[in-house]
Amino acid sequence: MTVSRRALLVLSSAALAVITVARRIGRGRLGFSEALAAEPPAAGETMDITLLVNRASHTLSLDPRTTLLDALRDHLALTGTKKGCDLGQCGACTVLLDGKRVNSCLMLAVAQQGRRITTIEGLAVGGRLHPLQAAFIAHDGFQCGYCTPGQIMSAAGFLAEGRPPTDETIREQMSGNICRCGAYTNIVAAIKEAAAKVDQNAALQL
Ligand code: FES
Ligand code: FES
Repeated sequence: MTVSRRALLVLSSAALAVITVARRIGRGRLGFSEALAAEPPAAGETMDITLLVNRASHTLSLDPRTTLLDALRDHLALTGTKKGCDLGQCGACTVLLDGKRVNSCLMLAVAQQGRRITTIEGLAVGGRLHPLQAAFIAHDGFQCGYCTPGQIMSAAGFLAEGRPPTDETIREQMSGNICRCGAYTNIVAAIKEAAAKVDQNAALQL
């Protein structure tokens, strides 16, 4: 999950250029070569997109440079996903994309159309806590709680990967999620307990 800020900016610029070219061709304004030579989108230009978040479809009008994290927090009011470093280094912003864990601060929202996005708000179903949420409470897997949504979403992705939930594997696979309160011992205990309760088929549906 580690992507440098420089790499992200390069990738974002490339993605934005492709999106801009595609939009201009799609509107019938320009041919392909003309679109390639055209200027990037003007400041304030927005793009209509549809995101599937927690089993619900949302249509948004966004600056194409908006990250998935900012789209979730600032445009969909899903503030459970936290902004820590905004640099891809802390894991506080972890969500699932088609069931795989990602740092949402490193993803462009416009590039996630048609994908299944799951945030901490989508984990409990029918008012029942997900086994990971219940286990984090039972084991005091937090102190201030700021990193907790990212820890739980990363753990949900880890359990769906089907790796053996040993202490060593959990610590290695959760190493991208930083807890400044140092609640690691209890976090590992919570994930081990939840691993015994999470149905693998259900884990793959997230
Ligand atoms: S806020 Fe995304 S990794 Fe820190
Ligand atoms: S519980 Fe405070 S940062 Fe993890």
